Amino acid sequence: MKSNIILTGYMGSGKTTIGKELSKRLDMKFIDTDELIVKKAGMSINKIFEKHGEQKFRDIETEVAKDMKNINNSIISTGGGIILKEENVKALKKAGEIFLLWASSETLYDRLKDKEDRPLLKVPDPEKKIKEMLEKRKDKYQKSMDYKINVDKKNILEVTEEIEIIYLKS
Ligand code: S3P
Repeated sequence: MKSNIILTGYMGSGKTTIGKELSKRLDMKFIDTDELIVKKAGMSINKIFEKHGEQKFRDIETEVAKDMKNINNSIISTGGGIILKEENVKALKKAGEIFLLWASSETLYDRLKDKEDRPLLKVPDPEKKIKEMLEKRKDKYQKSMDYKINVDKKNILEVTEEIEIIYLKS
């Protein structure tokens, strides 16, 4: 197994929460690509989208994905759209094993409905948008992953243990 665990999945699938828990249990560092983007840009994700648009955000996201080759012994939580570009996926694959956290659109909507920090969901009907985006991205999530973890109706411990077992066995 390569040294890093990379978590992918749609917004609200639990990448950050699960990533932090894994990092404690496996005594590995925790890295969040969105946090690195915010650091590089010197402003929040909402602000990047507002001031410079999604394209700029995606450009920085690609820089950050490529920077992951220098990372070791870490849990890397990624932004939900990182799988959109093939060059990002290529860079991530070199850095570690990709675990896709997969949830139904109902679960995702339920977790995201009160959140203000997802610029792509600031639309009149976020529930519909989640369904549409998931459908559009589904293939890319599936093709880029090494392991798929269904997270619907599972708690943090259950998901964390599932990943830990796979990681330690491989
Ligand atoms: C995005 C997901 C977000 C963040 C940005 C775009 C996406 O990250 O990168 O708002 O395109 O799905 P999370 O998946 O951590 O919410």
